[in-house]
This record gives sequence, structure tokens and C-alpha cells, in this order.
Amino acid sequence: MNIRDDQAVQELNQSLNLEPLWLPFTPNRQFKASPRLIASAKDMHYYTDDGRKVLDGIAGLWCVNAGHCRDGIVSAIQEQAQTIDYTTAFNMSHPTVFQAAEMVTRLAPDDLDHVFFVNSGSESVDTALKIAIGYHNALGKPRHRLIGRERGYHGVGFGGMSVGGMTPNRKAFSAALLPGVDHLPHTHSLEHAAFSKGQPEWGAHLADDLERIVALHDASNIAAVIVEPVAGSAGVLVPPKGYLQRLREICDKHGLLLIFDEVITGFGRTGSAFASHTLGVVPDMITFAKGVSNGAAPLGGVLVKKEIYDAFMDGSEEVIEFFHGYTYSGHPLATAAAIATMDIYEQESLFDRSRELAPYYEEAVHSLKGLPHVIDVRNFGLMCGVELEPIPGHPGKRAYETFVKCYQNGVLVRSGGETIALTPPLIATRSHVDEIAGTLGDALKSMA
Ligand SMILES: Cc1ncc(COP(=O)(O)O)c(C=O)c1O
Repeated sequence: MNIRDDQAVQELNQSLNLEPLWLPFTPNRQFKASPRLIASAKDMHYYTDDGRKVLDGIAGLWCVNAGHCRDGIVSAIQEQAQTIDYTTAFNMSHPTVFQAAEMVTRLAPDDLDHVFFVNSGSESVDTALKIAIGYHNALGKPRHRLIGRERGYHGVGFGGMSVGGMTPNRKAFSAALLPGVDHLPHTHSLEHAAFSKGQPEWGAHLADDLERIVALHDASNIAAVIVEPVAGSAGVLVPPKGYLQRLREICDKHGLLLIFDEVITGFGRTGSAFASHTLGVVPDMITFAKGVSNGAAPLGGVLVKKEIYDAFMDGSEEVIEFFHGYTYSGHPLATAAAIATMDIYEQESLFDRSRELAPYYEEAVHSLKGLPHVIDVRNFGLMCGVELEPIPGHPGKRAYETFVKCYQNGVLVRSGGETIALTPPLIATRSHVDEIAGTLGDALKSMA
């Protein structure tokens, strides 16, 4: 056990100089005035620098699916660091990355049998968009337009930001976003689908907007459509029944590639390896990150269908087929972590466990209906969004204050916009679920 709750950790944290660090997606001055520092973590819990135990209700950031500091993953990283710390991925490689690729493709839907490794979700998305454009070039019929969706989140690279649809992330950069991008409407409707359990009945018709965009530009100009099968960061927006099937049909009709961004939904979050399995729709590419390595080392990737890989392999064997890659594509430590992670998923049947817990989780989170300020609860697999009524003139404030209250009371939840997201590790038990829902419920009551 590696829980560092000793005096030395507390003293170290208290002597820290917080100023030099610029924290991501954080109000820096507010945080530094009242920091939240984690000293250690194990399984379902964090331990804070002031000695408190905090239940992790969000699996780190939708990534620590097998729980924290798992022995097998820790030792795999340690051993790899001693054996081979780094090799270039260009014109060279190492065995671990091939083993990791084979394991990921074994988990993927049948047709997606090649994988390109990167280091993050953002890199996976930008890579997939480039593969889509490169694929059409390779076929000799260039297509460059890309289609995303309102309220989509695809990371923070210029590609991901451009196809993404979260206004706060885009507005400061609007003049610098990629040209040639359109957006489908988002699928969330308080009017028609509030408090739906699982997939809403209403909204499949929203996929038909893709026909409008195709009619506007002509299919011959459109390379790909990218969506999260279940939108995560925008507040857990669950696809209406039939919606993804409809998108798939329209993409097939017009020869558009369909990309599922499974950075959050991959590796068991919805009760199968990928949401593609759970929802019964197979895209042409899947982007993934987070759960592939249990958050223990940065790794992401793009799964592609064989015909996409083959299209790139068509020319001279002496020429680099895809002018793209990262210094750390398939890094030894990250791929070692991924192999150990996928071993744990299999040995502990964590995807099955996630599926079995989901109905209990659904009842627990929907029991929050009727509490002060709760205007919607949405859930799918072990994902849930509890939407709160905004405070006029203070966007996001109520959800942020709820997050702080829950943290003080021993449960980590995530606030994003007006929504609280609950996405526990897949090792969660019913009593963890009760504690998460109960603590959130108490926080909401206390803030009435
Ligand atoms: C669907 C989706 N795509 C991409 C990303 C970006 O991943 P990263 O933060 O690893 O770059 C995220 C992050 O939450 C995500 O949820």
C-alpha cells in the first residue's frame, strides 16, 4: 500500500510555491487562494494533504476506470522504466507497443483492426481528422470538409476545437478555427427529454440535419463526421434512440467517414469495451485515450478500419504513407501501463461489472429528481449528468459551488457549465454509488 498520509507530505504541501504553475481549465487565482491538493490515491479514494479521505466519483477525469494506483499497473510502469525508457517511434519500435496495439484491436469492434498511437484525447482527434482527409486523398478523390456537433467536446487542438461545439472553448479563438467545418445540432432537449432514463425516445430526427449539410456542400466535399456517441464534457448528453443508426445510414449513403470520439466512453464506461458495442453502431474510426491506460500514463490512439489503413498502404513502399506522428507515439511506459490496465479489465471482468451496476446507478442518480435546483438527470452506463438551474448572471456558479461542497464532504464530483457529472471508477460498489448520490443530494439540500 502506498498511501502517503504522513507528516512529511503535509509539510511538503504546505511549503509549496503555488505561483509558477498555470493550471488548465481552472480559475487560477481562485484555486491558489483555496487550493485542493491530493497527497495520494488508492482504489476508490483520494487522500488529501490535510488528511481527509475523498471518494473519487469521477474516476480521476473519466479515466481511472480500474481505480487508483493498481499494483499491476504500477509495477508494469516501474519494470518498463528500468528495461527501456524510450525509443523513437519513427523507423524504430519496441515490442510493448505491438502487444498494446494487438490488445486494443482485440477489444475494438471487428472491422477496426489497426491502431495509431498518440498521447492524449486531443491528439487522437486531430490525428483522426487528418487520417480522414488523407484517406480521401489516397483514394484520389480529395474531400476536406469536416462535420462536428454543437456541444461536442473533442479536446483543445485546433482540429478538435473546430469540430467541437462548446462555446466557451471556441469563442476566444473563433477567427482562428479551421475553415470548412459545419455542425450538426446537439441532441439535448429539456422540453422533450428531461429526466429520461438511458436513451431518450425523442430526437432521432436530429440526425437528418446531416442531409441538409450534404445538400448544401455536396457529399463530394465532405470527408468525415465526428461525434461522441455519448457527449461527456457538455454534461452527459445521451443519444436519442435510433439517432446514431441514422447518422451511420446517412454517412454510408454519401461515402462520409463516421468517427466516434470514445475518449470518455471507451474501455468500459458504458458496459462494453466501447460505446459502439453498447449502442450497436460501428463507426469507421474510433478515437480513444483516458481509460486505455487507466490514467496512469498518457496514451491515446485512433482505431481505423482495415480499408482505411489499406488505402494509405497503396503507393510505393519506400515512401512514408502518413506524414504524422509524435515523439511519444506509443511510449514504452504508456503502452506498458495500457497492457497492465487491459489485463485488469479482463481479469476482473470490469466491463461486465460496469454493465451490472448500471441499473442500480440509474435508480440512485434519478432519486435526485425533485431536489432543489435539479432540472434534469441524464444517465447511460456509469455516466450521469445532473443539470442545475443556473444562477442568473453567474454561469456555472451553482454547479461549481456544489462541487466544492461535495469535495468538502468527502466526494469528488465534476462541475462543467450547469451540470454535475458523476462517473465513478468501474470498481465502484453499490455503497459507493449510495455515498456519491447521497453526498450530492445533501449538498443540494444544504444550498436550497
Ligand atoms: C470526447 C473527448 N475527446 C477528447 C478529449 C480530450 O482529451 P485530452 O484532455 O486527453 O486531450 C476529451 C477530454 O475529456 C473528451 O472527453
